[in-house]
Amino acid sequence: MATPLTLIRGDGIGPEIADATMTVLAAAETDFDIDEQIGGVTALEKVGTPLPEETVDSFRRTNLALKGPLTTPVGKGFRSINVQLRREFDLYANLRPARTIMPGGRFEDVDIVLVRENTEGLYIGHETLIAVAGDPKAVAQSVAVVTRHACERAIRFAFDYAATHGRRKVTVCHKANILKAVSGLFLEVGQKIAEEYEGRVEMDDVIIDACAMKMVIDPSQFDVVVTTNMFGDILSDLMAGLVGGLGMAPGANIGESAALFEAVHGSAPDIAGQGIANPTALILAACMMLDYLEDQNTADRIRVALSQTVNDDGIRTRDLKGNASTEEFAKAVCNRLS
Ligand code: NAI
Ligand code: MG
Repeated sequence: MATPLTLIRGDGIGPEIADATMTVLAAAETDFDIDEQIGGVTALEKVGTPLPEETVDSFRRTNLALKGPLTTPVGKGFRSINVQLRREFDLYANLRPARTIMPGGRFEDVDIVLVRENTEGLYIGHETLIAVAGDPKAVAQSVAVVTRHACERAIRFAFDYAATHGRRKVTVCHKANILKAVSGLFLEVGQKIAEEYEGRVEMDDVIIDACAMKMVIDPSQFDVVVTTNMFGDILSDLMAGLVGGLGMAPGANIGESAALFEAVHGSAPDIAGQGIANPTALILAACMMLDYLEDQNTADRIRVALSQTVNDDGIRTRDLKGNASTEEFAKAVCNRLS
C-alpha cells in the first residue's frame, strides 16, 4: 500500500530541488500517496497565510512530511513556519548527519551526527522591544526557556541513536560557563542520562565555541553531538561546510508520532529560479525518510547512486565546482538507479 506523504515544495530553490527529489524517488520505485501542500511565502502570496490549515491538517493525517525550505522574513514579518511546524507537531529531535560523499575536500571521511533540541531554547519567540525616551527599540530582549523534559528526550534520542547505530560517543555541547541556568541544565541532564548508557556509549562535553574550533581542525574527534536549539542551528551549517557545503546536508525532525524531512539549508534566494541548486541535501533527507520507514534497501540504493553520480560520473552542480543543472543532476542519479 502507498505511504501517505505530505509534500511541501517550499520557497526559493524549494520547488526546483523538490522536483528533483521526487524524480529520484520515482526512479527508485518508491510508493508514496502524495498530498501536495504549500507553506511560507508561497502560501502567504497565494492564500494570505504562511501556514494554511490545509497544510497542518494534511501533516496531521499523514504524520509524514517532506519539505523544501521556507523563507522567513529577516528582522520583521511572520515567525518561522519551520519553527512553528516543529513546535506544533512536537518534533523534538532534529537529526543532522554530516558525512563525506565526495572525497577530496578539506577532510576525508567526515562522519558526525548532530542531534539538535528542536522545540525550545531561544526559539520560543518570547521577544520584546522596550521603548525608552522616544526610541521604540532602545532595548531588545529574548528569553530562552529550557525544560528538563525537552533536554531529557533530545539527549536520550542522541544516546539511543548512538547505541543503535554502533556509535562510540556522545558529546554534549553547551555554554554552561556563561548560561549557567539554561545551558547548565542541559549539561546536567546530559551527565545523568550518560550514566544509563555507561559501558555502551561514552560521553564527554565541550563548550560551544571550543567545539566550533575543534570541529574545523579535526572533525574525527566527534561522533554524535547533542546540543540546544540555536547552537545546533549554527553547528549544523558548520558541519555542512566540512562535507562540501549546504547542498550536501540533510535533516530529519522527529517526534513521537510524526516526522518531517528537509535539507539543513534555506531557500537560497540568491540562486532561486536559476535551475542550478544542488538537490543532494533534500534527496538525502528523502533517504532519511526511507530509513525512518524502514526501507533501508531503497535508501542505500539512492545513496550509492548519488555517490556514483558525483564521484564516478563526475556530474556535479555549481556549488561543487561542476556545471550540471539541478535537473541534469537528478537525471544522472536516476540513470544510476535504473
Ligand atoms: P541558505 O541556506 O538559504 O543559503 C546560504 C548560502 O548557501 C547561499 O549562498 C545559497 O545559495 C547556498 N545554498 C543553500 N542551499 C544550496 C543548495 N541546495 N545548492 C547550492 N547552494 C545552496 O541561507 P540564507 O540565505 O541565510 O536563508 C535564506 C532563507 O531561508 C531565509 O528566509 C531563512 O529564514 C530560510 N531558511 C529556511 C530553512 C528551512 O526551511 N528549514 C533553514 C534555513 C534558512
Ligand atoms: Mg539553520
